[in-house]
Order: sequence, then structure tokens, then C-alpha cells
Amino acid sequence: MYAELNEKLHARLPTIEDVPHLPYTEMVVAESIRLYPPAWAIGRRALVEQTIGSYVVPANSIVLLSPFVTHRDARFFPEPARFDPDRWTPEAKQSRPQYCYFPFGGGPRRCVGESFAWAEAILVLATLASRWKAHLVPGNKVAPNALITLRPKQGMPVTIERR
Ligand code: HEM
Repeated sequence: MYAELNEKLHARLPTIEDVPHLPYTEMVVAESIRLYPPAWAIGRRALVEQTIGSYVVPANSIVLLSPFVTHRDARFFPEPARFDPDRWTPEAKQSRPQYCYFPFGGGPRRCVGESFAWAEAILVLATLASRWKAHLVPGNKVAPNALITLRPKQGMPVTIERR
């Protein structure tokens, strides 16, 4: 990612025009929200009885789908706990079923802000990482806190170093 940012930005601030030219930075964002999807669970209420595979879902049941759980399923993401942006090359993406990764939901209620969120995340990361390296303060463990959205339980104190 640092190599890509050096090559494409030459120390200037990124703009929206840079987003399509920062594919590796995008892969880092994709891998980050695989492991820590901000929307960690998505709920639905069944209006009528439905059969899904071998499961009967009675009318009025609440069904929870969890990107957090599915994104860590080793059938789709071998060594799921390992942070590996190379899972997001076009070839690797094509080799997996569509809904093993759904940080923005899916179907008619899929996030309407998805394109904006990708552009924003890539730009924030590119802006920070083009100038700074962040190091987690030793002794701090990053533990997820599953509220409506997923957050780090004790924050994420870092020291920053100029690149
Ligand atoms: C990383 C950032 C974001 C994530 C992970 C995210 C995730 C999601 C998910 C999972 C859903 C589907 C909820 C469901 O099926 O019940 C959703 C829906 C929605 N999102 Fe996002 N979102 C993000 C950013 C945004 C932004 C920036 C906007 C607006 C500019 C936005 C607006 C919406 C709206 C309006 C819906 C409801 C769509 C509907 O019900 O038809 N989201 N989002």
C-alpha cells in the first residue's frame, strides 16, 4: 500500500480522481471490513413462513445474518483470522460465492451509501497512510465491541510516525 501511495500520489493529497487508481489501498479496506464489518449483524423479520434449505422459518421469526461470522468462515477465507489484502485480487474474488462477503448487505435493501463509503474509506486511508505510519501502543489489545455498529472496545491508541 505504501508503495502504491508513493507511486500514485508523489506525496500530494489524494482526490476523488485518484480512487480508481489505488487498487491495493482498496484491497486493504476490503480486508479490514472483512475482519471488522461495521454492520456486524443484519436482521429481518419473516412476514410469512419460509423454508430455507432444510430450515423452516415460522412467520414473525427474527432472522439474523452476520457478516462478522460469515466473513470468518474458513470455507471461503482460509486462515480467516489472518489479515491478507491479497484475498481481494479480481481472480480471488471471482473464485468465491457472492454472499460470503456482504459488509453492505444485499438485495433490495443493500446499502445506498456503498459507493460513497468505499470512496471515503479509500481517501481517508490514502490521506493518512501517504504521510503517516500508525503503531498500536504496546500493551493495548484491540477487542471488538458489538454495539449497533462494531467498534474497538477500549479505543485504539496509536503513536504516529512520519513516513
Ligand atoms: C462503511 C460504511 C457503511 C457500511 C458498512 C454500511 C452498511 C450497510 C448495511 C449492511 C446496510 C443494509 C442493512 C439491512 O439490510 O438491514 C445498509 C443500508 C443503508 N445504508 Fe449503509 N453502510 C455504510 C455507509 C453508508 C453511507 C455513507 C450512507 C449514506 C450516505 C449509507 C446509507 C444507507 C441507507 C440509507 C441504508 C438503507 C437502505 C434501505 O433500507 O433501502 N450507508 N448500510
